[in-house]
Amino acid sequence: MLQALGKKYNTDKSHPSHSFQGKTYCDTYDRYFRDIRHEVKCVVEIGVLGGSSIKMWEEYFPNAVIYGIDIDDRAKVYESERIKIIIGDQNDADFLLKIKNEIGNIDILIDDGSHINRHIIHTYSVLKDNVKKFYIVEDLACSYESNNLHDIRKLWQGQDLNDENDDLKNYRHEIVDWFTKEIELIDGKDTKWNAIHFHNWIMMFEKL
Ligand SMILES: C[S@@+](CC[C@H](N)C(=O)[O-])C[C@H]1O[C@@H](n2cnc3c(N)ncnc32)[C@H](O)[C@@H]1O
Repeated sequence: MLQALGKKYNTDKSHPSHSFQGKTYCDTYDRYFRDIRHEVKCVVEIGVLGGSSIKMWEEYFPNAVIYGIDIDDRAKVYESERIKIIIGDQNDADFLLKIKNEIGNIDILIDDGSHINRHIIHTYSVLKDNVKKFYIVEDLACSYESNNLHDIRKLWQGQDLNDENDDLKNYRHEIVDWFTKEIELIDGKDTKWNAIHFHNWIMMFEKL
């Protein structure tokens, strides 16, 4: 079902470009979300310009408020009765604290924002305690580069609004070190997560 909605709203989460062995991101998410989709009350997606994915989530989770976070204020146009847009930089500590307090409990968070490892890890460190079911990081192909192979500032709309003093470089060891730390926490039973799922270009923390 989610795959059909992804196609309806034309998010790349349903595109063959974002698939592996015939399964798109939507196929993967549907497997985890279909049994809980009526219970989900709050979904947060970081990175929403284009509006495709938040409209898909709005229809898929009929009882949820969908928060879209984006650095680009043009995203404001996607607000509706159940879609709330908050404009800010996911690497800004004050902004992260503001949304942490404003949003409260989150069932599912999807980080599809800057795709910069430092930003991903910073955002997680502030928002993880709010997340009750799934914390997801998308498009890890960007994270796995060992250096800045192309100019990530121009890769997609909104990306050029990041701090001009931030080199936006991704070093693979940053994300791998973070994964290793989180896996060690699970091994040591010292985390709230029951599982960490790795899929092609997606990782998901799950609280059962
Ligand atoms: C890949 S697009 C999101 C696509 C959307 N989720 C979808 O599937 O239709 C990435 C988004 O991240 C936003 N972005 C880039 N840097 C950001 C930052 N530091 N904080 C918040 N959003 C950021 C961009 O403005 C852009 O809208």
